[in-house]
Amino acid sequence: MIIFGASGDLTRRKLIPALYNLYLQDLLPERFGVVGVGRKPYTDEIFREQMSAAIKAFAVSPPGDSPEKAKDFVSQLYYTSLDTSDPASYSVLKQKLEKLDKEKGCMGNLIFYVATPPSLYAPVAHSLAEHGLTREKSGWRRIIVEKPFGYDLESSRDLNKRFREVFSEEQIYRIDHYLGKETVQNIMVTRFSNGIFEPIWNRNYVSHVEITAAESLGVGERGGYYEGSGALRDMFQNHILQLVALVSMEPPVWADSASIRTEMVKVFDSIRPLTTEDIERDVIRGQYSGSVVRGETMKGYREETGVDQESRTETYLGLKFFIDNWRWKDVPFYARTGKRLPTRVTEIVVHFESTPHHIFYHMGGTDAHNQLIIRIQPDEGILIKFGMKVPGTGYNVQDVNMDFHYSSLSDVYLPAAYERLLLDCMLGDSTLYARRDAVESAWRFVDPILQYWKQNPTRALYGYPAGTWGPQEADGLFGEKGLTWRHPCKNLADDGEYCEL
Ligand code: BG6
Repeated sequence: MIIFGASGDLTRRKLIPALYNLYLQDLLPERFGVVGVGRKPYTDEIFREQMSAAIKAFAVSPPGDSPEKAKDFVSQLYYTSLDTSDPASYSVLKQKLEKLDKEKGCMGNLIFYVATPPSLYAPVAHSLAEHGLTREKSGWRRIIVEKPFGYDLESSRDLNKRFREVFSEEQIYRIDHYLGKETVQNIMVTRFSNGIFEPIWNRNYVSHVEITAAESLGVGERGGYYEGSGALRDMFQNHILQLVALVSMEPPVWADSASIRTEMVKVFDSIRPLTTEDIERDVIRGQYSGSVVRGETMKGYREETGVDQESRTETYLGLKFFIDNWRWKDVPFYARTGKRLPTRVTEIVVHFESTPHHIFYHMGGTDAHNQLIIRIQPDEGILIKFGMKVPGTGYNVQDVNMDFHYSSLSDVYLPAAYERLLLDCMLGDSTLYARRDAVESAWRFVDPILQYWKQNPTRALYGYPAGTWGPQEADGLFGEKGLTWRHPCKNLADDGEYCEL
């Protein structure tokens, strides 16, 4: 595996720890090595030292971890310093790969992982091709591309085109780490392996669907990147739309890459395009301002490093949209994501219609508000809310919980997202990677919002104090019915205004 951008954060925090965990579980091939590629003039030894430190700091290790194992693993890491933007310099890499391939007997199988700044994605792919490294004459060649895959519809099409000039679609693995999360894959299992959910998973029984991807952290050191991105590109176009696809798609014919990915694209293709009026009414953007949270002073977004003091980049996005197909026609989907919200939580809430006839009303009783909550993180699990009779006279109904927490499976190791995804790529399984048409279709939905903001830069951008649930205007998305977002807490089964965050 060749990692471009090897001196970067992703390599240190995610990629090398994930490979180490695969190694501990005996899931790496016997004949395997990693070549880190970057501009910094490291030697193999320096790179190994840095990656040893990264493993200590970031690997959430399954059983079997030991200093000897870590040493053995890092001995399979190498480094090549080159200017990735200069095609001529790739001959050094080619020689190193040929030498290592002979020594290790990797049979010419290569995975290139592009974790560089996006402007280098296409130049890296083309330079590899110029040196014959993409041709599958001996062994297979695959390329994993980090997000963001494009900046808008046009740039994503262009990037796809440039990749397809030198790689076939089967060789390209566009990563979205949300698809690597166990709990995200479990959405399909919940829906399609249980007889009790699917019959009611449609417009006849579901009143609306809510998706939250909240983060308590701010942009930290990534202000420079985030300024050109914002919540819409950073979280919604990719991660949240993948969740939308999994929760709303039709049952695939079979659980294989082609069938699953085809159903996911159909969802993106069916999302009702937003008109200018829709955007003005149903898309709310916000930006965090400074505040004091539990005694700690939090900077406002505009005070963060690398951020313009008059920035109009959104750190919060809340929107309402519809999926125009047989199953979901006129069922509203609400999604929100933001930085510096009260807690870190990602979850999907499927809200069910109430019963057709309210037989307890005349006795002062109410109906339950049935919800199925799929908690992606943290306190991963599933919660069902249903009505129970309050003991005593009359028929008072109270919402109660039935919950499953992954933590109750004490002997089960939950692999990190990158572990699963890297392993799948080695095995040639692209199911959990985004296909070309899916990426473009997702951008097609998002593009009018980007265009609208570009053409109307002064349209409302609401401030919200760091540590709150975003701008109040986002509550207005639910309309008049008195509905609002669920207030999730750190613990899946807690909700409401008062809880541990
Ligand atoms: C990344 C975004 O893709 O996903 C980050 O660039 C965000 O801004 C992160 O923090 C969230 O991922 P996770 O796995 O922590 O939910």
